[in-house]
Amino acid sequence: MACKAFTISLLCFTIMTSFQATLAFANNKAISRDKPCKHMVLYFHNIMYNGTNQANATSIKIHDSHGALGPFDFGTLVVFNDPMTADHQLLSTPVARAQGFYFYDMKDNYNAWFALTLVFNSTEHKGTMSIMGDDIIALEERDLAVVGGTGDFFLTRGIATLRKNAVQGIEYFSLQMEIKLYECY
Ligand SMILES: *[C@@H]1O[C@H](CO)[C@@H](O)[C@H](O)[C@H]1NC(C)=O
Ligand SMILES: *[C@@H]1O[C@H](CO)[C@@H](O)[C@H](O)[C@H]1NC(C)=O
Ligand SMILES: *[C@@H]1O[C@H](CO)[C@@H](O)[C@H](O)[C@H]1NC(C)=O
Repeated sequence: MACKAFTISLLCFTIMTSFQATLAFANNKAISRDKPCKHMVLYFHNIMYNGTNQANATSIKIHDSHGALGPFDFGTLVVFNDPMTADHQLLSTPVARAQGFYFYDMKDNYNAWFALTLVFNSTEHKGTMSIMGDDIIALEERDLAVVGGTGDFFLTRGIATLRKNAVQGIEYFSLQMEIKLYECY
């Protein structure tokens, strides 16, 4: 009896070990920062609703903290459905939508936290890419994580780097988003 139990647990141990080895092998494939499997540069355009620009607004404050915790909008939450273009012009034909939200989360500087999905529905790409992370606005370049995808971007992962493109008052800002994917299926 004891021997039988021992044999089973040994067998079980062997199976588990080989399973773990396979996982480790899958995760250890060499990834080079300079060699993404897909690379694209898009532009994100955000027009804030200001009370009168219904026709043009692409984003709206869901909660405005009105400076209760300092001058950096800490606690303000914005929902957006923004056009993404292939060049830096707001009026170019969009190649995707960026749908999501961001909120300001720092009392002593402008710092936003983003969660969004890029929705592609063009002849070139169909599918989505989900992106999230911290946007330290004071930095010239900010990296967000591409945490997954669907369709043409099935199970993808990578990095989306944000850089300032244009700002006009409090109503409009535009960011360059350089996307490098390191897992493509
Ligand atoms: C809202 O934005 C529009 C377009 O930029 C501008 O014409 C209008 O004056 C703004 N309204 C307010 C209340 O700031
Ligand atoms: C807002 O939209 C209208 C109609 O689409 C357009 O004529 C106007 O130029 C837009 N204004 C801004 C500030 O983008
Ligand atoms: C994608 O575009 C096609 C053609 O314009 C449209 O019929 C379809 O509803 C769109 N799908 C989504 C998910 O927006």
